[in-house]
Amino acid sequence: MHIFAHFSRFCAGIGGFMSKNIAILASGNGTNAENIIRYFRNSGTVNVGLVLSNRKAAFVLERARSLNVPFAYMEKAEWTDGEAVLSLLKDKHIDFVVLAGFLARVPDCILHAYPNKIINIHPSLLPKFGGKGMYGDRVHQAVVAAGETETGITIHYLNEHFDEGETIVQYKCPVLPQDTAEDVAKKVHALEYEYYPQVIARLLSEIR
Ligand code: GAR
Repeated sequence: MHIFAHFSRFCAGIGGFMSKNIAILASGNGTNAENIIRYFRNSGTVNVGLVLSNRKAAFVLERARSLNVPFAYMEKAEWTDGEAVLSLLKDKHIDFVVLAGFLARVPDCILHAYPNKIINIHPSLLPKFGGKGMYGDRVHQAVVAAGETETGITIHYLNEHFDEGETIVQYKCPVLPQDTAEDVAKKVHALEYEYYPQVIARLLSEIR
């Protein structure tokens, strides 16, 4: 076997043990982003290499700053075109992209550059209460208004349509008759904090 073939096999082998770089995309408060950063902080296998937002005033950027994670804001035109965002992801050697309350559309060039390597979390049991305009507390208000007896979270791959990519996993929680949207939000956030980092870790352990 040629020496370069040996070398590339060797690199592929150690690649599995080397740390993976993830980017977190978020538009708002960023409690999930912070939870993910803290979960992996001393992992040695996963590094949060970038927090990226489409909103300049998003509190998630403040969280990234105080946790010493590189962060950036990119304005609307850059999300429409996508090339500058993609360059930044490449510059930071990002292997995997995690959406955590990200409310803009991810450009096609990024979807193509990261096939099955971009995931989202949605605070309902999709396909229920998904689609454009369904995010954050609006979802929980709709769940309560519809008289649902259970809700939960969906972690899914991203595709060109809001909330329609292939489901990876769902976790459920009960909705009691007396629950307000705020009560439901608390239960759903608890599921997000417990499971999202674990699912990210599992998926990362499976990619090359
Ligand atoms: C989370 O509940 C997440 O599931 C939801 O936004 C919230 C962000 O909270 N995402 C969506 O609704 C996407 N359609 P956070 O900023 O505190 O992490």
